[in-house]
Amino acid sequence: PTIAAITVPFDLGAGRRGASKGPKAILQAGLIRGLQQMDITIDHVADIRLPNDTATPLAAEVDQTNLKYLAEVIEVNTRLAEQVSQVVEQGRFPLVIGGDHSIAIGTLAGLSSHYQNLGVIWIDAHSDLNSADTSPSGNIHGMSLAVSLGMGHPLLTSIMGNHDKVKAENIVLIAARSLDEGEKKLIRSLGIKCYTMYDIDRKGMASIMQDAIDYISSKTDGVHVSFDVDSLDPLEAPGTGTIVKGGLHYREAHLAVEMLHEAGIVTSAEFVEVNPLLDDNNKTSQLAVGLISSLLGKQIL
Ligand code: ARG
Ligand code: MN
Ligand code: MN
Ligand code: MN
Repeated sequence: PTIAAITVPFDLGAGRRGASKGPKAILQAGLIRGLQQMDITIDHVADIRLPNDTATPLAAEVDQTNLKYLAEVIEVNTRLAEQVSQVVEQGRFPLVIGGDHSIAIGTLAGLSSHYQNLGVIWIDAHSDLNSADTSPSGNIHGMSLAVSLGMGHPLLTSIMGNHDKVKAENIVLIAARSLDEGEKKLIRSLGIKCYTMYDIDRKGMASIMQDAIDYISSKTDGVHVSFDVDSLDPLEAPGTGTIVKGGLHYREAHLAVEMLHEAGIVTSAEFVEVNPLLDDNNKTSQLAVGLISSLLGKQIL
């Protein structure tokens, strides 16, 4: 199918500013050109931004909570969800480029009505399974997967309707190494499949990805890849806001997306948390372009 790129220059879900400049940096690093050279048709169909006027209409309605920039997160994700849904309806492949990881709320909401059993491969140092009561920071990018499971502020969980956007048994976490206490409890109690860095070190990325693909393809009717670049080691991806040592190496990350392409199961993707303000010579933007290309079929030979 043709690729419909949706950029989301938004960073108010994160604790520091800069991920809003991610889409521009990734485009400047040659994303479109690179994909066209692979004979992929890619259209940049939308750029989801907040109105310039920072007081969003919702701001007044939103209660005092410890959720930072709740009104803005709702606004952007509502628009993103509509755009993603439209792209799927047109039979195109949504490629969402962030932006911080709070935008997974909108992406998954937009996908949800088109799949009975959407699989989600969440490649991230974190699990983003916090809620207001477990979050150490109040940053909504640490809550997006919980919201998609139906847990969190009602104005977030009700975007595109009140149904749960994904089921716990259809999620696979890969590269986890920084989990808050409440998140660990939730992963255990819901039985969410979680491949930590320990598992990757122990068994190797190829074996982990094969397990993940077998697990998810047996019971889903579509697979979304949510790729947070902080899954990589900070040596490979310095340009991101919440770095955690001991991450994926360059080839491990590429192998993961190469195997996903080869499996032929991926129906949508998002790449998030590139922060050009923290980057080193656009290394992380270039990395993202390489990973997107591999996920969409770029091969070495
Ligand atoms: N667990 C931490 C928090 O809730 C960090 C989350 C980082 N999330 C991310 N998408 N980079 O604040
Ligand atoms: Mn994340
Ligand atoms: Mn992360
Ligand atoms: Mn290693």
